[in-house]
Amino acid sequence: MERYTATAIALHWLIAVAILLQLGSGLWMGGALKDPATQAFAYDVFQWHKALGLSVLVLSLFRLIWRVTHRPPALPPAMPMLERRLAHLGHWALYALMIAIPLSGWVMVSTSKFGLPTSWFGLFEWPHLPVPKDMRTSANDGSHEAHWLMAYAMIGLLIAHISAALRHHFLLHDTVLWRMLPVVKRKESA
Ligand code: HEM
Ligand code: HEM
Repeated sequence: MERYTATAIALHWLIAVAILLQLGSGLWMGGALKDPATQAFAYDVFQWHKALGLSVLVLSLFRLIWRVTHRPPALPPAMPMLERRLAHLGHWALYALMIAIPLSGWVMVSTSKFGLPTSWFGLFEWPHLPVPKDMRTSANDGSHEAHWLMAYAMIGLLIAHISAALRHHFLLHDTVLWRMLPVVKRKESA
């Protein structure tokens, strides 16, 4: 069975876990920052959200370069043309969001009127983007709007993506999920 490269598999799962944490922390933070009972912890979560989100940006750019330089395994021959097209479209849309969501977050913190520094897990200060002063308010509003809209779009796409992976595995019984898993199918390794 043809498989994704070990690098593609490692990046897929590392980024998947990070993005699920990002969606969870992002959705929780908004209310928790306003509630005095959770405010202090929410502030820490907010710092991790920025640091992990920027890591997703770097890993996703690397993953995109890896993807265009390493051809993925071919889709099952029996797969209808419409499903092939949808799979490709969905994957490229996921790549686009994996990069555009953290970028919009970076613009947001770079143009915030609070001007808080962004620390990468306390190890170094992440630079802010040099947005001209007279564009900061509109860039902040636009990036804020884009950030949550794209995050919701990603949730929708992920529901479709995960359902498709489970359908291939449990209903169609093909190797689509196996070739993205970090373990080798037993029959093959024997
Ligand atoms: C893949 C990466 C990321 C995902 C999936 C993500 C997701 C989210 C989500 C779902 C929210 C809540 C949106 C809402 O309901 O209003 C949020 C809020 C936020 N995110 Fe991210 N985020 C990511 C990366 C980043 C990065 C890299 C930064 C900054 C460096 C950032 C900064 C923020 C900020 C400042 C808010 C609060 C916005 C507000 O004031 O309501 N995010 N994020
Ligand atoms: C935040 C979570 C996730 C993101 C952002 C994501 C993103 C992606 C992307 C961009 C690809 C295309 C790989 C390529 O051909 O270059 C892919 C492939 C794949 N993903 Fe995910 N994924 C996520 C979670 C999951 C989960 C939870 C599952 C399993 C239930 C899964 C199963 C798969 C499988 C089986 C493939 C290979 C599809 C094929 O061979 O054409 N993914 N994923």
